[in-house]
Amino acid sequence: MHILLDGKSLSESIRDQIKTYVERITSRGYREPSLAVVLVGDDPASHIYVKNKRKACERVGIKSLFYHLPQNTKVPELLDLIASLNSDESVDGILVQLPLPQHIPQEEVILSISPKKDVDGFHPENMGKLVARIEGGFIPCTPLGIDLLLKHYNIDLKGKNVVIVGAGFIVGRPLALLMLWRDATVCVCHIHTKDITQYTKKADILISATGVPHLIKRDMVKEGAVVVDVGISKVGEKVLGDVDFERVKDKVYAITPVPGGVGPMTVTALLLNTLQAYRQNMN
Ligand code: GUN
Repeated sequence: MHILLDGKSLSESIRDQIKTYVERITSRGYREPSLAVVLVGDDPASHIYVKNKRKACERVGIKSLFYHLPQNTKVPELLDLIASLNSDESVDGILVQLPLPQHIPQEEVILSISPKKDVDGFHPENMGKLVARIEGGFIPCTPLGIDLLLKHYNIDLKGKNVVIVGAGFIVGRPLALLMLWRDATVCVCHIHTKDITQYTKKADILISATGVPHLIKRDMVKEGAVVVDVGISKVGEKVLGDVDFERVKDKVYAITPVPGGVGPMTVTALLLNTLQAYRQNMN
């Protein structure tokens, strides 16, 4: 391995810059940027994610408003809350943590968030801008975080084979569009793909976002590839990525650790999207 793609350290430096920026604007008398975080129910992992996002906001001076609704919240109650956040001019970004309880239709909730406050980038208006290469929309946080990480380490994407394992709505799909935007040749493998190894072996840049611990083994990776691990699974007391890091690391040019790779970059991208919402809202 030549390079450890250190998302923790890059995140710290970007967050320092955000903090300085927020201090400068608030010292000039402008209000602080603000993010409304909505959590429905008591999924333990969601609680941890939301706590991390709110803590990250507060550390850089972004105000975080927290709405914790019970598991049995009725759909209209959630939609009413979102409508009031949409029309509240002091709220810049709105994030509804996923997954939602079974009885709440995710699509309806995503559609109800104002595209101008959709810092997750999940609204079809923002996803559509990603398809159409229209600047100024919100790019989903994990794809944006990965893009920033690769850019920081001068990993060129033009004409490269980018293979993405996992076609989920939050990471795989929007990431494929963003990598296309960067002029890569993109291949997306998913649960129905026959023999993913034939694809992963050809990857100049291999990105795995499945949540299956150690799915990506040494023999599936090309010599000198760049490997980005989005997965995070708890197996006993251990936190494992999608990639068998210890056996893969000496075969590759660059690789992200888990934890400390993509995770912190996702949260940093959320902070950047919130600043973007703030700037667009104040204009
Ligand atoms: N659940 C897992 N990842 C995410 C994310 O990026 N945003 C939201 N809102 N929920 C998630």
